[in-house]
Formats: sequence, structure tokens, C-alpha cells
Amino acid sequence: MSKIVIGNWKMNGLQSSVAIFRSILEGYTPERAAKSELALCPPATLLATFSSIVAEQSSPVLLGGQSCHHHAVGSFTGSVSAPMLKDAGASFALVGHAERRAEGEDDEQVNAQLLQAQEADLTPVLCVGERQAERAQRQHHLERQLTRALASKPSSLAAPRASRLIVAYEPVWAIGSGTMPSAAEIASVCRSIAEQVQGLVPSDTRLEVLYGGSVSPANAADILAATDGVLVGGASLDAARLLAIVDAA
Ligand code: 13P
Repeated sequence: MSKIVIGNWKMNGLQSSVAIFRSILEGYTPERAAKSELALCPPATLLATFSSIVAEQSSPVLLGGQSCHHHAVGSFTGSVSAPMLKDAGASFALVGHAERRAEGEDDEQVNAQLLQAQEADLTPVLCVGERQAERAQRQHHLERQLTRALASKPSSLAAPRASRLIVAYEPVWAIGSGTMPSAAEIASVCRSIAEQVQGLVPSDTRLEVLYGGSVSPANAADILAATDGVLVGGASLDAARLLAIVDAA
């Protein structure tokens, strides 16, 4: 199966960053595209602009939102909903990123966001991961996050439907820190995540488990050999570094 590389620009990027995005599109040649999928999650303010550039160039680069609200529409000042992301050209949505959880989003909201993403025909990228202090209870912590995020809800929304689901294992202590688990440890955690998720979703779900946290051109090959792909923060802000990670797939 081909690998997927997802770039998360976080709260970085202005209209002047269009030049970086154009360099990424230019560098993502058909040869690279044949080897791995590439998706970029810019801030919501740039999604529609990037989406028109993708369309104008018929580029295979995919776009995603960095989060979506747990409601589809309504009086939620400042929030962006899954249908809005879809409308702006996204085909993915990150949900449950550690930086959103740190702002107070809980498992129940992450569950509702995931269902909203699926309802809007976006592929959810469910982010899970333990904090430094939780490392000793990692297995238990991840199981709890996964069970809660993939729970069905007695609401108007259905249980997670058969579709593509991406889970990103991002240890909180590895994000932006330059430190990370060994490739063998990452492989073992991703395997155990896959086993658990298979018991929680419809059997025909296409599941991929990625790793995120301090991924760089220097370590990408080892991590990509151990996973279905990577979720890249800092290094995705530089076209050459992002493409070097794609090349490591
Ligand atoms: P870094 O690659 O900058 O560590 O960020 C990882 C991340 O949070 C991606 O979502």
C-alpha cells in the first residue's frame, strides 16, 4: 500500500505563503505522486485559495482542515465546521490533535467531530497520543482515547460509517521537541492501535495508522518503513523538507 504524508501547518501561513504551496505542488511530480499520497492542512483562511490553485494545476495534492467543530452549523463564533471545510476544498480533517485537546477539547467532542467529518464526506485523521507523564500507562491511555473517539452516539448522526479512517499516533512529548520513540516502538504502538481500532469500526473500513511528532527528512525513512505514513508539523512548512519526506516513503 502506498504511504501517506500529511503536512499540518498549524497556525502558520499568510497569503504570502502561497509561494511555498506552489513550490510543493511543483515538486510533487507524477513520479512522487505514484509513490505516496500527499495532503496538506493549511490554516482555514488559506484552504479556499490553495484549493483553487490545486484545481488550476490539476495537482494530486490533497487538502485538509486542522480541526472541525462538533456541530455542523450554528451560533459558534470563531469556529469552522466540517461542511465548511468540505466547501472550501478539503477532503480530510484532523480531529483530536493534542494542541486542540490542550485548549480544552475532550473525548466526547472529538467523537462528535469525527462523526461530523464523516457526515461531511471528509476522511477523519484521528490524533491520539500520551503526554510525558502518561508514558508508563500509554497502552491504557491510547485505548481510552480510541474507544471514546470511535464510540457511536445516540444522536441524529450515525455510528462511524464504513469508509477510510486515518489514526495518527502523536505522542504529545514528541511534538516539536526533536525527540521521539524508536522506530521499533512506533511500529509496535501503531500495530496495537490498528488491532484495537479494527474491533471498533466496520470491517470494511480502510484503516491507516500514521506517526507524528518531530518527523524530519533525517528520520522519515525509518518511520515510514514502520507505519502507513506520517503527520508532519514544522518540516511541512518548507517545500524542500516536505518533499524530502515524501521521497523517504
Ligand atoms: P512537529 O512535526 O513539528 O513535531 O509537529 C507534529 C504535529 O503536531 C503534527 O500534527
